Amino acid sequence: MRFLGRTCLIVLSLLPAVSTQRDGSSITGSDQPLIASPGEGVILPCQITPSLSAVDMEVRWYRENIRVPVHLYEDQKDQTGVQDSDYRGRTALSILRLEEGILSLKLTNLRPSDSGVYSCYATDGVWDGQGKTELIVRVLGTHPSISMVSTQGEQTRLVCRSEGWSPEPEVIWRDRDGNNVTSLSNTTVQRDSQGLLSVSSYIKIKQQSNVFSCLVAEVKHQNQTGNPNSTYPVSITCLWIEPD
Ligand SMILES: *[C@@H]1O[C@H](CO)[C@@H](O)[C@H](O)[C@H]1NC(C)=O
Ligand SMILES: *[C@@H]1O[C@H](CO)[C@@H](O)[C@H](O)[C@H]1NC(C)=O
Ligand SMILES: *[C@@H]1O[C@H](CO)[C@@H](O)[C@H](O)[C@H]1NC(C)=O
Ligand SMILES: *[C@@H]1O[C@H](CO)[C@@H](O)[C@H](O)[C@H]1NC(C)=O
Repeated sequence: MRFLGRTCLIVLSLLPAVSTQRDGSSITGSDQPLIASPGEGVILPCQITPSLSAVDMEVRWYRENIRVPVHLYEDQKDQTGVQDSDYRGRTALSILRLEEGILSLKLTNLRPSDSGVYSCYATDGVWDGQGKTELIVRVLGTHPSISMVSTQGEQTRLVCRSEGWSPEPEVIWRDRDGNNVTSLSNTTVQRDSQGLLSVSSYIKIKQQSNVFSCLVAEVKHQNQTGNPNSTYPVSITCLWIEPD
């Protein structure tokens, strides 16, 4: 009994010291979204600062569901068995860099469906932390086309279509005076077999205004201002002029 008591004391006196040291560390991802094209590879940044070795930690990258990881490292190795099958063979953690607290994930052969927010989580059982990084796999869609649809008994509609976008674009309608009349329209989005998005938007037209434009544009990310070289976002307009 005395032996057990002493062992217990030693364990208790060690624990607080360890957790105090780690309490100061946290995990950071990237404030800026990463923008890439399909087929390319990226490194999703994530690190523990101040640095802690993550070699003996559980390191988990995931999107919506923490239980279906994009990548899991545990018991000092990659656990590919539980990995989201969409990511099989496309992810890598650098084991050497884990020692420096760098949890960055290499993701290759990008697909449009990879667009989204990625979380990196690490824990040693006592301490844990989490960071986030957004990835945009960008594809510009087709020039929009406008057609007129008139069905018996219904008000005439203009339909604007554009295909092959990633991520989902924004559709903006304007009347001949340039007023934003998007709130009068109805837009539907469909994903094709390659993961790209098609938008179709209609607006019911009134007699008195005979000019409409439909603009399909990339949605500007709030942190997208930083890169002066960026050609992002792109918008494409199609004009409809109804004959008098
Ligand atoms: C945008 O950047 C700021 C600082 O650079 C950061 O605090 C914020 O979380 C970022 N917003 C998004 C949505 O990433
Ligand atoms: C146009 O209006 C829609 C909905 O009313 C709004 O979401 C959008 O931000 C507006 N766009 C511009 C460029 O004013
Ligand atoms: C848009 O269209 C869908 C299907 O056609 C319909 O269910 C929905 O009510 C419409 N929304 C508006 C705002 O008209
Ligand atoms: C912009 O592009 C030019 C040429 O491609 C390159 O030399 C420069 O470093 C870029 N600048 C930034 C801020 O990315």
